[in-house]
Amino acid sequence: MADLDDLREGTNFGLGIDKEGQSFHVKGAENLPWGMKDRLSRIFNPKSGKTVMLAFDHGFIMGPTSGLERIDLSIVPLIEYADCLMCTRGILRSVIPANTTKPVCLRSDAGTSVLTELNDNVLIDIEDAIRLNASAMAVMLAIGEAAHEAKTVANLYKAVDGASRYGIPVMGVTAVGKQMARDARYFGLASRICAENGANIVKTYYCEGFEKVVAACPVPVVIAGGKKLPEKEALELCYKAINDGAAGVDMGRNVFQSDSPVAMIQAVHAVVHQGITPEQGYEMYLDLAK
Ligand code: R5P
Repeated sequence: MADLDDLREGTNFGLGIDKEGQSFHVKGAENLPWGMKDRLSRIFNPKSGKTVMLAFDHGFIMGPTSGLERIDLSIVPLIEYADCLMCTRGILRSVIPANTTKPVCLRSDAGTSVLTELNDNVLIDIEDAIRLNASAMAVMLAIGEAAHEAKTVANLYKAVDGASRYGIPVMGVTAVGKQMARDARYFGLASRICAENGANIVKTYYCEGFEKVVAACPVPVVIAGGKKLPEKEALELCYKAINDGAAGVDMGRNVFQSDSPVAMIQAVHAVVHQGITPEQGYEMYLDLAK
């Protein structure tokens, strides 16, 4: 049997007891019931405490955007390298093989498209998340947008009410309207509002002062990648986010729009889980892309 020091050093057989004596590897999840913890453990690796979520839900507002025209060709080959898949129910049912065994973070709100006013979303049926065996539900909050703020906070609130009845965690997604500042003050506010309303995971963006955003958020924070960057810069973004306390990434365009998506997701995975530097990650990317 492992002694306490072994457990605290991380050779904990996946039990998730860390050096601070926290007995569960997901921040803020200590008091959750077994089903919630089980689902969170499918998303966040119990050894590293981190996750690489592959986001390809963009089509629900953007249609067949670059890299997502043929999800069967662009995304399906990446599934084996992701820790979790984030997508809509339509793509899950129609394109993603049901035997992948990867946890799914189901995009659970829907509404407007790029052609109209963004962020005017409603919540989809919670029972559908159960039918699809979702490991989490993702719901967007439009903080600071007067026309949508209350409605989207209510969406999250209702999602948490419904999903927690079935042990399903909810991820709050902080949207950024065109007029919003992309700074730690804004992301700190939006992330905290997600958590205060019951989100078990928060997805936001990396920014200067990101460590303050993470410190003030009582649940794990994962970052979106945003618009496509050169591969090395995207790996730097992952590295800085992890270094500043992110529990992982929920990345889309910087993976599936890469020149070599299969190489890129493996490099991202190594930066997130093994803590390799962006330089090492980029070398790895170049090697795998050959
Ligand atoms: C956008 O609607 C989605 O929430 C995306 O999942 C999110 O922005 C992450 O994708 P990307 O890394 O491409 O920003």
